Amino acid sequence: MGNEIDLHAQGAGFDADWLRWREPADMEARDAGLLAAWLEGLPTEARIMELGAGTGSLLRACLPRLRRSVHWQALEGDAGLIARAEARFAHWAWDHPDWTFATGDPVRLRGPGGACELHWQCIDLSAGVLDLSGVTAVAASAWGDLVSWCWAGRFAAQAAAAQVRSVYLALNVVDGPQFHPALPLDGLLGRAFAAHMRRDKGLGPALGGAAAVGWALALRTAGYRVRDAASVWRLGSTHPLLTGAWLEGYVRAACEQQPGLRDRAGDWLTQRLGQLAQGALQVQVAHRDVLAWRP
Ligand SMILES: C[S@@+](CC[C@H](N)C(=O)[O-])C[C@H]1O[C@@H](n2cnc3c(N)ncnc32)[C@H](O)[C@@H]1O
Repeated sequence: MGNEIDLHAQGAGFDADWLRWREPADMEARDAGLLAAWLEGLPTEARIMELGAGTGSLLRACLPRLRRSVHWQALEGDAGLIARAEARFAHWAWDHPDWTFATGDPVRLRGPGGACELHWQCIDLSAGVLDLSGVTAVAASAWGDLVSWCWAGRFAAQAAAAQVRSVYLALNVVDGPQFHPALPLDGLLGRAFAAHMRRDKGLGPALGGAAAVGWALALRTAGYRVRDAASVWRLGSTHPLLTGAWLEGYVRAACEQQPGLRDRAGDWLTQRLGQLAQGALQVQVAHRDVLAWRP
């Protein structure tokens, strides 16, 4: 047998390293036109609520494109990630010398043509109803596939009732990653992984690979107009840490779902990590971004 799979090891979950490794791939993948359309449609002063904000990756993607003042309310359930966010923004500001950064609550960021007051809130979003009064727009990245159809439907109805103008949900996973070169086990692993993605992550049976379709339906039903666009991760030797961690998490999840795959999946993983080390692996992980706005 090849690689021994430890089903209990920490996988490609939401630890800070995983979020740091995925940030550049997320920035490359998000559809630039949809993100620009969302930001340009905001009023000159906007209050934005972000769901499942991690360490603030989505805001860092928005800041260079920001031409207005925003109050950004970042909701996140993991206090450890929130504790790391300040250092991530300090580092970001160091790399963007035309921006100033001041710690505190709110964190203040100011740059050419734009300013942001960032307030963090540690909250379990499974708990239920959110206070959306005064919120201009809701945003999330790599979050929409974690929730259930019921969660999405209830949230869309609440957003419409609170007159939230727009909802921007980036990077909703789509089933069926594509591997080059192909291996015989790709299909079986892909189906097991897709089923694992639909397991309950604390917010009901997850939408997983049906997230973009599910959210579009929920938001249209609530009266929003909706556009969506592809946002594909292109993994391989340009993102070696992310690709290695993703492959390990992919196999771990597939084997949790279908334990009979363990031996063959271990060999598959050994082969894939070898290809990655030789620069001979390309993986496309499909996502879709969703933008909804009130007509
Ligand atoms: C895939 S990560 C994405 C994080 C961030 N949006 C990014 O793009 O880097 C999903 C995030 O949702 C958060 N999350 C998951 N379930 C949650 C819940 N029930 N309440 C609050 N946050 C939750 C996780 O802690 C994690 O930070």
